[in-house]
Amino acid sequence: MYTLPSLEATRSISSLAVLTSGGDAPGMNAAIRGVVRSALSQGIEVYGIRRGYSGLLQNDMIPLNSASVSNIVQRGGTFLKSARCPEFHDSDNRRRAAELLKQRNIDALIVIGGDGSLSGAHLFEEETGIPVIGLPGTIDNDIFGTEDTIGFDTAMNTALDAIDRIRDTADSHERHFLVEVMGRNSGFLATHVGIAAGAEMILVPEYAINIEEIALQLAASHRAGTGSSGIIVVAEGNEPNLTAGIAQQLQQQGLTPHISILGHIQRGGRPSGHDRVLASCLGAVAVDYLLAGYSDIMVGVSNGCVVDVPLDDLIRYRKGLDPELLKIALQLHK
Ligand code: F6P
Repeated sequence: MYTLPSLEATRSISSLAVLTSGGDAPGMNAAIRGVVRSALSQGIEVYGIRRGYSGLLQNDMIPLNSASVSNIVQRGGTFLKSARCPEFHDSDNRRRAAELLKQRNIDALIVIGGDGSLSGAHLFEEETGIPVIGLPGTIDNDIFGTEDTIGFDTAMNTALDAIDRIRDTADSHERHFLVEVMGRNSGFLATHVGIAAGAEMILVPEYAINIEEIALQLAASHRAGTGSSGIIVVAEGNEPNLTAGIAQQLQQQGLTPHISILGHIQRGGRPSGHDRVLASCLGAVAVDYLLAGYSDIMVGVSNGCVVDVPLDDLIRYRKGLDPELLKIALQLHK
């Protein structure tokens, strides 16, 4: 369970708005519910902004009450919808968005999304002075300053379930499978799923991929009879057709790998218990941070504690993938 900060209310807030932005993630609904129920219980009015920053720029806001967030904690996706909004990169649009909030007497904004959405929130706060709190909502778990993000655990278990199934047929037909998982430019999802699935190999964008070495290892274990089948987890990375390229090169080495790209199933589904607790707690505490006078921060988790991380740090620093984790994955296969 998380250690929650003890915060004292010093700022008066009469109303706030909440939005989900960027790639949706299982648990976003639980986070919205956490924000809404915590705010209402402290006498704060709440608006839901639909379709992320796009909806904000279109003034698409709905008042939320306790019933609005009933029966959603278990649902994947986000009932407020989400979007990627390049228009919000424009500072004039950000200022216009601030005007729209002021017209409705909305004092503060809570943004649930990935590093792109939270960077936008930082610029918005800096330029407009409207208090903003961010919540880490992405299946990629690639946000600096937090060990965990809303949706990561569920996505990991969804990918794991798929890989366990692929393992059955791979074993039956003595085949190798390249299984591509999401994660944008990072390998957190691939590494965790790979360890959990007992993958023979995990390929991530953080570390160079040596095809010859991979092929030699696979061929050697094949000849030794210890690896007639196998799962190679590949993080999608930022190189188009990466997995197909690896498969081609392995074929040139005499292997016949099959490809399975898991795709958007990793973004959906009922959030895990872990993600529901994480999202509910971060959502509720976000309101307490606002009332305690905080702004321009993300509420995250570090060493089991709920912590506040300056949004500026998310832009400045990159969350590194621990090489020891990958080493363990490889050791487990010797
Ligand atoms: O950031 C979440 C994520 O699912 C990434 O893992 C993936 O690269 C990307 O979004 C896919 O984006 P879209 O749904 O816009 O294709």
